[in-house]
Amino acid sequence: MSKVRAALWQWLDQRFHLGPLVDALQQNLRKMVPPHVNWLFTLGSMLAVLLVVQLGTGVLLMVYYKSSSAQAHHSIEHLSYEVPLGWFMRSLHAWGSHLIVGLALLHLMRVYVYGGYKKPRELTWATGVLLLALLLGFGFTGYLLPWDQVAYWATVVVTQAPASIPWAGPWMREFMIGGAEVADATLGRFYVVHVILLPLLLLGLMGLHLLLVRRLGISTLGRTDEPTPDPEVLRQQGGHAFVPYHLLKDLSAICAVLGLLCTLSLLWPSQVGEPADPLHTPTGIKPDWYFLPAYQLLKYVPEVVGVLAAPLFLLALLLLPFLDRSPERHPGRRPRALLAAALVGVFLVLLGGLGHLSETSRTILGKTYHFDILGWPHQVAPGEAP
Ligand code: HEM
Repeated sequence: MSKVRAALWQWLDQRFHLGPLVDALQQNLRKMVPPHVNWLFTLGSMLAVLLVVQLGTGVLLMVYYKSSSAQAHHSIEHLSYEVPLGWFMRSLHAWGSHLIVGLALLHLMRVYVYGGYKKPRELTWATGVLLLALLLGFGFTGYLLPWDQVAYWATVVVTQAPASIPWAGPWMREFMIGGAEVADATLGRFYVVHVILLPLLLLGLMGLHLLLVRRLGISTLGRTDEPTPDPEVLRQQGGHAFVPYHLLKDLSAICAVLGLLCTLSLLWPSQVGEPADPLHTPTGIKPDWYFLPAYQLLKYVPEVVGVLAAPLFLLALLLLPFLDRSPERHPGRRPRALLAAALVGVFLVLLGGLGHLSETSRTILGKTYHFDILGWPHQVAPGEAP
């Protein structure tokens, strides 16, 4: 067996000159991981694996999905009720999208708290922010594909907003939806962006992000103007080699998140909604949870301010390493940076919460409340319609 292996290795090496590549890989895997690296540093690997699963389930869904307004909803019904395990693939893909956006936000918070965005990792951070924007793009375009009432009307509402941008707004809206109304052309555009454009960009950016992460190694908690400690010093400080110590942690976290994905998909499979009806507007239409803060903000401020807020927020995130010039990485020495982020986080969660409650009725401590479009509660008297 070993002779066969040696011959095979020689055959491949003569053709691809693998020697230097394998040496570089081995050296890379032996890299030291700083002592503060804990379970929060497995979020990036979980994300990478979930994204691969997402691409896999997406390709399987494409086999049956039909991207025309006349056939899309029926193809989803066929997939969910007739294709063997079709419902499971759909559920894995839907739950995968929620987990990926959730984990990407947690990963961003972890990098922020540990100052991992600072010099020399500005580009790692910037590719991360662009990845997050792509993930939101996947969510936005994917939401319409089942062509059901919620999907159709949420897209109608959300795509109306950019029209308020002065000068370019109406043109942007028409370009986005392929005409004056959300219709067959919109579905075609969203589908191509969802299955071709975004995956290509995602693969390229993810490759760049991971390459930068491996080249630069995980950041230490030292100041950015101090030299990076060499591997021996890191070992003395309590650091470990990536293989096997951190790799095992990564693998355990990956198994756990895959287990969670399967459990969620089995317990709460994706439902098939009512087919889209452009003549009948349902009440309480809402986008996915990660768009709720932006959606709710639109209700309180002039539309143009609300529409520009999300892209400006992403731009500020992109430029963060260049705006925050302090050399400190250690969270204990950056109290103001942490407080500012906590305030932004609370504001976004609050807006999201109001968006979630808006246009619903709930019974709290025996009293029924109707939450209006702004999310403010109004008590409903017994017997009164909310
Ligand atoms: C969407 C897919 C993403 C994947 C697959 C991914 C993957 C990874 C991995 C595997 C690591 C190393 C381990 C770890 O820190 O968890 C990492 C580190 C890093 N990521 Fe991401 N990431 C993604 C998104 C993001 C986002 C949204 C940001 C921030 C906006 C970001 C910024 C960074 C930075 C700056 C580092 C280096 C941190 C350090 O050295 O301390 N990443 N990423």
